[in-house]
Formats: sequence, structure tokens, C-alpha cells
Amino acid sequence: MRVAVTGAAGLLGQKMVESALTGGSEVFPFDMIGGSETAAGPVVELDITSAAEVRNEIASCGPDWIVNTAAFTAVDDSEGDDRRVHEVNVVGVENLLAAASAGGCRLLTLSTDYVFDGSAGPYEEDDMRNPLGVYGASKAAMEDAVISHGGSHLIVRTMVLYGAAPGVRTNFGLWVLQNLRADREMTIVTDQMGNPTLASDLARLLLEMMERGAEGTWHVAGRDRVSRFDFAVALARAFGLDKNLIRPVRTIDLGQAADRPLESGFTLRRLQDDLRLEPLGLDASLGSFRAEVERYGDGR
Ligand SMILES: NC(=O)c1ccc[n+]([C@@H]2O[C@H](COP(=O)([O-])OP(=O)(O)OC[C@H]3O[C@@H](n4cnc5c(N)ncnc54)[C@H](OP(=O)(O)O)[C@@H]3O)[C@@H](O)[C@H]2O)c1
Repeated sequence: MRVAVTGAAGLLGQKMVESALTGGSEVFPFDMIGGSETAAGPVVELDITSAAEVRNEIASCGPDWIVNTAAFTAVDDSEGDDRRVHEVNVVGVENLLAAASAGGCRLLTLSTDYVFDGSAGPYEEDDMRNPLGVYGASKAAMEDAVISHGGSHLIVRTMVLYGAAPGVRTNFGLWVLQNLRADREMTIVTDQMGNPTLASDLARLLLEMMERGAEGTWHVAGRDRVSRFDFAVALARAFGLDKNLIRPVRTIDLGQAADRPLESGFTLRRLQDDLRLEPLGLDASLGSFRAEVERYGDGR
């Protein structure tokens, strides 16, 4: 396959490039800022909010698939920046949809559990959406845009992505590790439930789904559903670090700018039953995370 990856310098983007290369694909990496190295060579500059740039770059590489991992992903910064978030997360995807139609290729794009309100998780794909914040609302609008565009679509909702890769912004797993290694205490919420997802394992599953021609909306995340607090404790254990540095706190006492879904998490039945695909469980994914950290460092 020929695979164009947008957001290829980001965490999932880098893992997607690696997994597609390992699967024998020819890969074309793009990101907002060009130049950084990926396993498929230097990233080519492509701002997905520019319809003309998207059209030209996609036409010139002629992919079978566009995997869009580019997004405005800073959840708290999204509050009050509605216009920019919409521009990247919705208009950017509309530009990719147009380029995919023109080039006769398929688009895989990523959504999030933040399209749900966290009152009734773990969620199935068809459960009612009710985003609590700007980021989640932009992803729900993106889903609607993809579906109303028509044709076959592939939307994958995921959550709590973590992993190590060169030059990526800190994710929850890396942040916990950095604090533990620096002997810094941290407070972590006990009442936000979700499935921690190792980005490299997600990339493996996405490639399988593309190869099998999956269509529609899917939940793809790590197999185990735990609180953020329990995830951090499991991470401390996996790295042999002091779990007493992790202090429990309730979301209501933390004062984050954006509201979060509390009882979140996914059921993975569709992925497991229809495609017989099995995400890694928490302990196995933490083992792979350790290997990634040994290879790429912890970002400090
Ligand atoms: N992280 C999570 O926990 C999580 C959970 C659920 C779903 N997701 C979704 O999964 C996908 C991948 O997430 P991630 O954590 O890998 O994100 P990430 O590390 O933040 O990577 C996103 C990449 O997209 C780039 N980008 C931003 N705006 C762009 C634009 N206009 N044009 C081109 N590139 C642009 C970013 O560049 P800059 O760094 O320069 O901005 C970054 O390299 C996203 O769709 C995200 O919403 C993530």
C-alpha cells in the first residue's frame, strides 16, 4: 500500500509511519512543520488547514490511504480557542476528505472518547455522544463531516494515548514517568476511568484494519479499563519506581480548564468479535513502553 500520514511528527503519527513501513507499505510523512526525521525519511511540510496544499501534496504522492493523525490535541488549551480548534480538527479533515475523493483513496481519521460525557461508560460505538468541551465537540463535528461526506469512511475513536518517540509533546505516561524519575510528587485523579492505549499498539491495529478494508466507526484502545491513578501506579510498578509519589485527587478538586468525561472507557467488542483483533493489556503495553523509553528516552 501507499500510505500518506499527516501529523507524522506527533506520537501516533511516528508510530503509524513505523507500523506501515514494517507492513511493507510505502509511506509519505507530512506534518505542520517539515524537516524532522521519521523512519520513512524527513517530514514534508503540510498544514491540513490549507485546502490547496492538501490537494497538491496528496495528488503528488497518490496514496491508497491517508491516515490523519494531525489534530489540535491540547484539551485545556482548546477552551477559548474554538475557532482554531475547529479549523484544524474539522476543516482540516474536510480538506483531506476532498483530496481523498479527488485521488480515489481512503481516509482514516482519529476521534476520541471525549465525544462522550462520561456518565455511562464504558461506551459502545453507537452510544449517544454528548461532548463536554471544545476539543470533544470539534471531534464530534469532525465525525459528522466524515459521515455526511458519504462513501466509505473509517473513524477510529481512541483514548489516553501514551508512548515514547523522538521530539513528541509530553503524554500522560511520559509525564508520570518523568515525575517518578525526578522524585516529584504528583496528584492524579482516581475518578477518571479509561483504557490507556500504547500508541505503537494502536498503530499496529490501525494497519490491520486498513489492510482488511474496515469501514465505519470503531473503538480501538488498550484492553484494560482503569482509573488514571491506577494506571500511574501500574506504571510505577512496571519501572520499579516509588508509587508513594502518586497522590490521589478527585477531578472536582483539580481545577482543569476543560471538563473531562469521568466514567469513560470503551468496550472493544466490535474490534474483537468482527475483526478478531486484540489490543495489548495494561501490563504488556507497559512492558513495551519500557522498551520504547530505553530506545528514545523519557523526553526530559
Ligand atoms: N493523545 C491522546 O490521548 C488522544 C486520545 C484520543 C484521540 N487522540 C487523537 O489521536 C490523534 C493523534 O494524537 P497524538 O497524541 O499522536 O497527537 P500529537 O502528538 O499532538 O500529534 C499531532 C500532530 O499534528 C500536528 N498538527 C497540528 N496541527 C496541524 C495542522 N494544522 N496541519 C498539520 N499537522 C498539524 C502537530 O504538530 P504540532 O506539534 O506542531 O502542533 C503534531 O505533530 C489525534 O487526532 C488526537 O486527537 C489522541
